[in-house]
Order: sequence, then C-alpha cells, then structure tokens
Amino acid sequence: MTGPRIVRVDDAALDAASKQLASGGLVVMPTETVYGLAGSTRDPGALEKIYTLKGRPGNNPLIAHVLGADEARGLVRGWNECCDQLAEQFWPGPLTMILRRDESVPALASGGLETLAVRSPSHPVARSLMTRFGHPVSAPSANRSGDVSPTCAEHVLSDYQGVEEAVDLRILDGGPCDVGIESTVLDLSGPGPRILRPGALSTEDLAEVIGKVSSPAHWGQGSSPGTASSHYSPRTPVELLDRTVINQHLEAGDDQVAALLIGGTAPAGNVIVLDPDPVICARNLYSALRELDATTPNRLLVELPPPGVQWDAIRDRLQRASTQVSMRRSAGGGSSGGSS
Ligand code: TXA
Ligand code: MG
Repeated sequence: MTGPRIVRVDDAALDAASKQLASGGLVVMPTETVYGLAGSTRDPGALEKIYTLKGRPGNNPLIAHVLGADEARGLVRGWNECCDQLAEQFWPGPLTMILRRDESVPALASGGLETLAVRSPSHPVARSLMTRFGHPVSAPSANRSGDVSPTCAEHVLSDYQGVEEAVDLRILDGGPCDVGIESTVLDLSGPGPRILRPGALSTEDLAEVIGKVSSPAHWGQGSSPGTASSHYSPRTPVELLDRTVINQHLEAGDDQVAALLIGGTAPAGNVIVLDPDPVICARNLYSALRELDATTPNRLLVELPPPGVQWDAIRDRLQRASTQVSMRRSAGGGSSGGSS
C-alpha cells in the first residue's frame, strides 16, 4: 500500500469497503453533511483506530450511523414516540439524536459515556456501504482532530497524506457534500430535548415537530464533549470582524491578509465571497476556509454572519475557528488542541 487513496464508487469498491469494515478496518465515506471516518460501532478495535487516526481525545464520543430507526433502536435505550416523530420527519438527514447507550454497545463508541449519539445519513454512498455491511458504523468527521471538516474526497486526501497510520486508507468519492456543515446534535437523554451543537436543522425546524427545544443562549458553551473545546479551525489565525473593518484592511493593500466575506461584490485582494443564502453559504464554507488557508496568509479575516437562527450553525463554527487560534497561540502555537 502506498498511502491514502481516493476511490471511484462502484459495486466492487463498495464490496471492498464493506469487507474492510468487517475485518476491523476503517473507510472514509461521504455523507450529506461532511465526510466521515467510519468503523464498525460494535468493534472496539475499529473504534480505537478511529481515535488514533484522527488524533481525537478518547473522551470525545462518536456518532453511530444507522440506516434508520429500527437499527437505532438496537443501539440505545429509551427510544420513544418523540424519537419516532423526529426520525420520520428528519431521517435520513442531518439530525443526530442522543439517548442512553445500550450495554451491548462498546463504551468506546461514545467515549465512555452512558449515552450514545445516533444518526441516519442520507448520502446514497453512505447508505449503500451501510446496507452492504449490515451493521451500524461510527464515524466522526474525517478531518484530523481540531481541523476543518472535509466536504470532498480531496480534502480528506490532503489531511492524511503522509500520515503513517493512513497508508491503506480508502476514501470513497461521493463528490462535494450537499449540506457542508455537520449535523444538529439533539440530546434526548435528559428531562427535555436540548440542542448541543447547532447544525443544518435549526431549533425552529425541530420545535415544529416536538415542541419546545432548549438551546444554549450562546453557542460555544454547549455540553457536548467535542464542542467544549474549540475546533473547526484552519492553520491561519482567524479573526471574525465586521465587513467595514475587513474592507479597511483590504483597502490598505496588505497582501498577507486573506478574507472570507458573505454576499455583495468582491473587493480586490485574496478574497472569497460566500453566498448570502445560509444554506448555500454552509455548503461552500469549509472548502472556502481551506482554499484561503492554503494560500498561507498571515491572517484570515472572516465576516461576522448576520443575526438570525438560520445562521446559528455557521456562526458557531466560525466562532470556534477563531477561538482555536487563541488557544493555539496560548499553547505556543502549532498543535491542534481541539477535539472534533
Ligand atoms: O454531520 C455529522 O454529524 C458528521 C457526519 C460524518 O455524520 N459527524 C460528525 O461527527 O460531525 P464528530 O465526531 O466530528 O462530531 C460529533 C459531535 C461531537 O461534538 C461530539 O462530542 C458530539 O457530537 N457527541 C457525540 N456523542 C455524544 C454524546 N453521547 N453526548 C454528547 N455529545 C456527543
Ligand atoms: Mg468533527
């Protein structure tokens, strides 16, 4: 084996990937949100490999991916009518539900927690792979811990190129992800439904189906273990600023500055303008961050997203990206101390 490789998806590739999972190996699979690093949920050896390859702290729980509610019920305790309604409305899709973990599921599947996150992805390649494999797969976003999540196969390839443990990693190419940011994480293991991580589905979307849903007043202080520390971060220091301030920097002609803007016309300079529609903006957000990061500027200035719940997830990810920088700086720089 020569290193991580992107694989065109056909029957033979899916069969090989399924065999890889069955023998305790890992496979990178596309989902509609971001690419995931998948291993069998019921195989502690495979789960261990996920943590090692990602460089993820062992206490940061994983999401178990299932084909639907029937498979989810086998992994958790306390699946109720509310879960049925949510699954009916939002699965397959970008909703992750947290319930109590069934004792039959290895503790490592949820970083030792008594709860387990479950989600049914809609991407046809993920579903074909899971159908062939016949068992749930645990899959965190396929980035190295702390870094920006991958939304196409090439992102994953560049993240794992040269990584010793990734020599035989196969990346199933499902094209660019349609949603582009991670799923909404909803905790249903407590007294009432609570959002731990904002995502493609908003608080309002969920409330329409199950009534009141609580969410932190300020994102970034949630209690999902992986959201407690900052991540989703490029290498370049990220600063979240108003458009007018960014324009002033660009007008000053500093060629060490890159800028990511939302809507409007692009000023001169190393700039990417994202669509002002939050759905389209989310789809292109991570590739834009990666693209600007690759130009190795000294500073990456990012426009503060507008107010409104439909921007919650994007705002959350950008805030974390900018916090990570201060953490890296205070830790002496270099390492990615985050834990996504
Ligand atoms: O869209 C997604 O959710 C993608 C795709 C691949 O499905 N996956 C993903 O996984 O984003 P990951 O591991 O990068 O993020 C999962 C988040 C983390 O913040 C983790 O802490 C939280 O979900 N989480 C998982 N299980 C949990 C649990 N039992 N209790 C609290 N938080 C949990
Ligand atoms: Mg992640």
